[in-house]
Amino acid sequence: MTRLPSFVQIKEVGPRDGLQNEKKWISTADKVSWINMISESGVKEIEYSSFVNPKMIPALSDAREVGKQINRNPDVLYSALVPNMKGLEYALEAGIDGASVFMSASEMHNLKNINKTIEETFPILDKVIQEAKSAGKRVTGYISTVFDCPYEGKISPEQVFRVCEKLLDSGVDDLSLGDTIGTAVPTQVEQLLELLLKHYPKEKLILHFHDTRGMAIANIMTSMQYGINRFDSTIGGLGGCPYAPGAAGNVATNDVLYLLHGLGIDTGIEEKKIQNAGIYIQSKLGKTLPSRSLAYFANAQ
Ligand code: HMG
Ligand code: MG
Repeated sequence: MTRLPSFVQIKEVGPRDGLQNEKKWISTADKVSWINMISESGVKEIEYSSFVNPKMIPALSDAREVGKQINRNPDVLYSALVPNMKGLEYALEAGIDGASVFMSASEMHNLKNINKTIEETFPILDKVIQEAKSAGKRVTGYISTVFDCPYEGKISPEQVFRVCEKLLDSGVDDLSLGDTIGTAVPTQVEQLLELLLKHYPKEKLILHFHDTRGMAIANIMTSMQYGINRFDSTIGGLGGCPYAPGAAGNVATNDVLYLLHGLGIDTGIEEKKIQNAGIYIQSKLGKTLPSRSLAYFANAQ
């Protein structure tokens, strides 16, 4: 077996991917307090909101206020989802260190999610990427439905590679590969990484697993065996994409930390602070989140 990485970087996407799917409105003040708590956990990147059409994602319609009110820890990179030039303008005004552009590997999910075909999306994102780079921002390119699409079924690694090439040509610094509906099994992860790692260094790739079928931890183990050491996750396993029917939340940061720390892999994150941030957001949402590790911690209190 390949040696596992000694350090893994976690991007906490709970305030964005987590809250975007919640029906219950979380006040701006509570979002800000939560993000401030996460900022003190040792996590190196937080995706704090989305600068998208607020009619499509009402839960994050206060992105500008959140961006302006959070305490900025200099050790944390604060990023946000940006779909177009209007979003970039708002995000720059609110304050971002990184812009996350996004599109799908499958035509139908791209249409449902951002109302454009794949071909129509490239020039829009190209402009956003160029502008964000000239403003000195780090840019991540998310690609959704890299394994399975809720509308089209299996997606081939070659189709994903074509989108990766276009986004890298436009100048993204790295790529986050999304198992949007949380259905992939490790062999699918292997097939995609076998192809992509022939072309790109592992540092360019982030894996973004949703956990609908409980496969995310197995998929993270598989990715690490390929040397991948960057993952996205959400506190408590919050989340999902409202435009991907059947998708559950992301893999829980709490569970990923339990795995990594148990394996002796450093993350720089204090697990207890993430557990407390999980308890905080559970109480604000008024529901129990799926993370088993969070449930264990909460019961032991
Ligand atoms: P569109 O309808 O094609 O855009 O939407 P438009 O330019 O025609 O504008 C329509 C309306 O939206 C107008 O307002 C614009 O002003 C407004 P109206 O005239 O109707 O009042 N608008 C905006 N408002 C604020 N900020 C903006 C903005 N842009 C337009 N930036 C668009 C195109 C992409 C904007 C829209 O489809 C959209 O907002 N989609 C968001 C979808 C989304 O956020 N999905 C969830 C995130 S993706 C995800 O979860 C997957 C991921 O986690 C990875 C994975 O798991 O795979 C990243
Ligand atoms: Mg996602």
